[in-house]
Amino acid sequence: MIGKANGARIGITGLGVHVPAKVVTNHDLAKLVDTSHEWIVERTGIHERRFAEQGEALTDIARPAAIRALEQAGGEPSSIDLVLCATVTPDMMFPTSSALLADELGMPDAAAFDLLAGCTGFVYAIAQAYGMLASGLCRRALVVGGDVLSKILDLDDRSTLVLFGDGAGAVVMEPVERGGFLGFELGADGGGGESLWLPGSGSRHFDEPDKFVKMNGREVYKFATRVLVSSAEKLLDELGLTVDDVDVYIPHQANIRIIDHAARKLGVPPEKVVINVQRYGNTSSGSIPLALADAIADGRVRPGAKVLMTGMGAGLTWGSSLIEWTEEMAA
Ligand code: UT7
Repeated sequence: MIGKANGARIGITGLGVHVPAKVVTNHDLAKLVDTSHEWIVERTGIHERRFAEQGEALTDIARPAAIRALEQAGGEPSSIDLVLCATVTPDMMFPTSSALLADELGMPDAAAFDLLAGCTGFVYAIAQAYGMLASGLCRRALVVGGDVLSKILDLDDRSTLVLFGDGAGAVVMEPVERGGFLGFELGADGGGGESLWLPGSGSRHFDEPDKFVKMNGREVYKFATRVLVSSAEKLLDELGLTVDDVDVYIPHQANIRIIDHAARKLGVPPEKVVINVQRYGNTSSGSIPLALADAIADGRVRPGAKVLMTGMGAGLTWGSSLIEWTEEMAA
């Protein structure tokens, strides 16, 4: 799917992020599996990540992010009429985490549903919210991207344990006077789905539940380096822009080698590339909003900047979005 914004100006007027307090270093993981700080840093760029406590679930991490986003956007929480939560680790399948958040945050008039698109979930969710806002179906949306992947990690599997972490971000999306989203490109390839999957999570393997994520790292690496580039190029082409028009590049924070490869292939210079995978690991749907918050804090995302966000992950899925930042937006 690829499309230009249809003239409706929809922007991000509030942003909040949150990570659990518990820091887990590579040295901590080396006590659990046969790995080392040096191997993890060299192959992934990750130094540490956050893990939720035993009793902490997705909405516990998403709630503070959502509250911050709502405070920044201003207005009453009850004015939110759409809550979308992109996650593969909801509190439970139902009630949905979006419905729980809408209730806890005081949004009685909101439609609320969860969205499953792996690590691309946040990009899918902002595209979905854009469509509903631009068509006039809703007026103010709260979009959450977050995961507690520590809950589905096999503590004996070094090939996945060292990569992932927990975290969430939330944005308020609504009509703005200037700038806003310019377009989206989204895709999926279920044929490659078994490269990154949670086989025991649904009705197919209901009788033999296996709650841990499984991954073919090399296949996902090849897929990631390909789609991060092709998705961004397709979107820029559709919008009649080139990579030189991009001021800030926010790729999904999976692995520093994947990010460096994509940036080099696209021709994005290092100073425009946002990287925080060293602090958080791969937080799945939380990754892009967490990186967006860092790029706002360090001054790279400022009024006038065109910000390219590209995700990829389980599904297999991928997606890009380009937004032009303005004074009305989160700062
Ligand atoms: O949102 C998407 C989520 N998934 C990803 O982003 C994953 C994408 N893939 C990757 O990032 C990389 O493939 C990994 C970081 C997972 C692995 O890096 P690699 O350079 O592709 O390593 P490899 O799988 O080719 O493994 C190299 C060696 C193997 O040993 P042998 O066969 O050469 O003796 C592995 O058994 O490294 C070994 N290995 C480890 N060693 C220490 C695999 N995992 C570890 C580990 N610590 N954690």
